Amino acid sequence: MINKTIDIIAGARPNFMKIAPLIEAFKKYNFGNKGIDIRLVHTGQHYDKNMSDTFFEELGIPLPDINLQAGSGSQSEQTAKIMLGYEKLLLNKPSVLCIVVGDVTSTMACSIVAKKLHIKVAHIEGGIRSFDESMPEEINRKVTDAITDYFFTTSEVANNNLRKEGISDNRIYFVGNTMIDTLLKNQSRFKKPTLWNENNLENKKYIVMTLHRPANVDNATNLANIIEIVKRNVRPFPIVFPIHPRTRKVYESINENNENVILTDPLGYLEFNFLVKNAKVVITDSGGITEETTVMGVPCLTLRATTERPETCNIGTNELIGTDPNNLEEPLGKIFKDKWKKGEIPPLWDGKTAERIAAIIEKII
Ligand code: UD1
Repeated sequence: MINKTIDIIAGARPNFMKIAPLIEAFKKYNFGNKGIDIRLVHTGQHYDKNMSDTFFEELGIPLPDINLQAGSGSQSEQTAKIMLGYEKLLLNKPSVLCIVVGDVTSTMACSIVAKKLHIKVAHIEGGIRSFDESMPEEINRKVTDAITDYFFTTSEVANNNLRKEGISDNRIYFVGNTMIDTLLKNQSRFKKPTLWNENNLENKKYIVMTLHRPANVDNATNLANIIEIVKRNVRPFPIVFPIHPRTRKVYESINENNENVILTDPLGYLEFNFLVKNAKVVITDSGGITEETTVMGVPCLTLRATTERPETCNIGTNELIGTDPNNLEEPLGKIFKDKWKKGEIPPLWDGKTAERIAAIIEKII
């Protein structure tokens, strides 16, 4: 029997929790015994232990078969390095399907390479749109979806975005959210980080903040302003701030008075989500975190003008605040008075998405 190879691409932190359940589902569907080999390709876009390795260890993801070691650089440098590395790999040993997840540089770079070599592309989390092209992720989404063959989607909104772009229904598979598969599976393993006792944290008496979007963190004055306003509005609650490497570089240039801010390196998956689950509120500019807070029923305020995940606001516990941190005051008031919406869980975010994908992929190939 000639084995067929399927590539799974992962490159940056938000990819790892999306691929973990896929690999498991492919195993459960016995792909190995059916002549389907899974090749896990890590592009190396994220490379720090706490941005990458920790997630493999905690989520039981097998070690990548290949690491393209793209590393840091401008978006174009990263794209170019990933494309060169992946092309070499495919020329040496082609695959029959390239599975990409999410919207990071690695997602776009690998889908272009595969497609040009006539390899089919499947995009997990296809179709979401912020309609804000100043975000690199929106460009990655649009480019990837322009050449994707099979779209696996998280919401009806995503399905409609794709239909409006002329994608026919027989290429759209509404399956739910693999990131939520990982969350539901690991909820019972969430782990108290050491900073909890060190800072005498108490349930629902602290907030979690994450910031890494260039618009919020690349300018020191902007970042200092956000931190100052958040501090003022949540006092006396402490702010746990796991700091992304991009943000740390700028943060270190601010003469920041650290009072009330618990600064920490990026945390592992189990510790970070322990903190989120027990937080009074999460303030973030991430997309994925708004999905996790929705499922855990934790109030979330997003410091962005747009979201590609509107269901986290319409159905879930998230609200878009815009880019002016002064807008935080009113919603924080509501949250502290326990008057925040309870939210519901979006359709098919039920922990079984990866299995649905495995069943479909088995048929496709
Ligand atoms: C990337 C994704 C973003 C995702 C985020 C989560 C793109 C376009 N953006 O943004 O969608 O939400 O990851 O983390 O793909 N760095 C390190 N160590 C690392 C990784 C990065 O120090 O392990 C540094 C880089 O040198 C760079 C900065 O962090 O200076 C940004 O990294 P990069 O991968 O370019 O983009 P992110 O901002 O992390």
